[in-house]
Amino acid sequence: MDINYNELVQLAIFTRQRAYAPYSNFKVGAYLLDANDECYYGCNIENASYSATICAERGAFMQAVSVGARKFKAICIVGGLDEITDFCYPCGVCLQFMSEFCDGDFQIVLYNGKEIRVHTLDELLPHRFNKDQLK
Ligand code: THU
Repeated sequence: MDINYNELVQLAIFTRQRAYAPYSNFKVGAYLLDANDECYYGCNIENASYSATICAERGAFMQAVSVGARKFKAICIVGGLDEITDFCYPCGVCLQFMSEFCDGDFQIVLYNGKEIRVHTLDELLPHRFNKDQLK
């Protein structure tokens, strides 16, 4: 799987500029790559009710699934208050959301302003609940 991680990071950083985060000021960008190398993007969109906030990752999946994408290779996530100085790990809800469409080898690419770190879904959400259990 020849993924250009540097390119994914740059595109996630670009997408982060569009974050709507007036309450936390924590801006997140997500760039999602499907099995055909099509790209989708998402940013966090906060809401005055707070609980209606949508994370960047789920935004990207919403865009992708809405246009018919169903298989995915990788997502890159960047986030922070001002500068990006730490790795922004996806929240539990987003990991569960991803697991609906992604296999265990789906790659989760993170960037802290210096280094790129790559995890798999298996690493970040082992023993997950999935649709097979509903059969
Ligand atoms: N957030 C994301 O968009 N993705 C994550 O993985 C972690 C958190 C957003 C939600 C909220 O707008 C802000 O970051 C602070 O929690």
